[in-house]
Amino acid sequence: MKGGPALSIAANNGAGARDSHLRVVSEAPAHTSGIRLSGVSKTYRSRDGDVPSLRPLDFQINDGEFFVVVGPSGCGKSTLLKMISGLLPPSTGEILVDGEKVTKPHGNAGIVFQNALLLPWRTVLSNVMLPIDMKRLPRAEYLPRAKKLLEMVGLAGFENKLPWQLSGGMQQRASICRALVHDPKIMMMDEPFGALDAMTRERMNYELRRIQRETGKTILLITHSIPEAVFLADRVLVMTERPGSIAAIYDVPLGHDRSLDVMTSPAFADLVQRIRKHFFTQGALD
Ligand SMILES: Nc1ncnc2c1ncn2[C@@H]1O[C@H](COP(=O)(O)OP(=O)(O)O)[C@@H](O)[C@H]1O
Ligand SMILES: [Mg+2]
Repeated sequence: MKGGPALSIAANNGAGARDSHLRVVSEAPAHTSGIRLSGVSKTYRSRDGDVPSLRPLDFQINDGEFFVVVGPSGCGKSTLLKMISGLLPPSTGEILVDGEKVTKPHGNAGIVFQNALLLPWRTVLSNVMLPIDMKRLPRAEYLPRAKKLLEMVGLAGFENKLPWQLSGGMQQRASICRALVHDPKIMMMDEPFGALDAMTRERMNYELRRIQRETGKTILLITHSIPEAVFLADRVLVMTERPGSIAAIYDVPLGHDRSLDVMTSPAFADLVQRIRKHFFTQGALD
């Protein structure tokens, strides 16, 4: 299912993949799918001394899973994403993606940062095509896919506009297309909606959840918004304050296909409240 220009709607996920970690003991590590962290920590060395940012972490993200990391500012969320994407080496431990150790940026991930970071002199379509040009993949083959992605996020008709002619939300949607255009297996997003107004952000949450269901991508998304984490995730990893460690990992019992209405459900409120308690245990701020 890899490689073709057609949008792969049928997914690489499914119950089988989701159960795979249960069978891991009897399988060779090379066949382990998903993302696996073992004892991964980070201490930044600086002139003023060491800055411990992450304590050793152990967890796994399954194939086709929407996995969200939530935690307070400065707890090491971006550090974690940079290490998983191969942009930054861990101080200890190792990261495996589909059984292979991550030592450099890998080609099978698309990354979305907090700001859209579109090139101002390139049109929307040619911004989306940037990874294809950089990877020297055949343009003609991927152009229809780029257009289809833009259509999927509601940007049909804007292909030839320049970034400044789009709203912030539209630019961010274009940057999501850019992260998907080469059909990466994994999408990593670092607070992708932080700069958006509340209403656009909700729309983007809804659309991203839908895109993930349609494409079956594995998504790792980082946020400091607890409601956003609960709405989007199949599982939420809650981090402690810096140096970050795992406070808890929750399954989100809201079903696969979600409308924004789930945010008014008791199950949603209940989980938001449980996660919030990790940060306001004294009760002083809540
Ligand atoms: N290059 C760096 N050198 C030294 N300290 C850093 C560096 N990058 C991040 N840090 C520190 O590591 C901690 C975690 O940073 P970061 O991963 O950006 O947190 P978050 O994304 O959760 O806000 C912070 O305290 C930050 O000051
Ligand atoms: Mg950050």
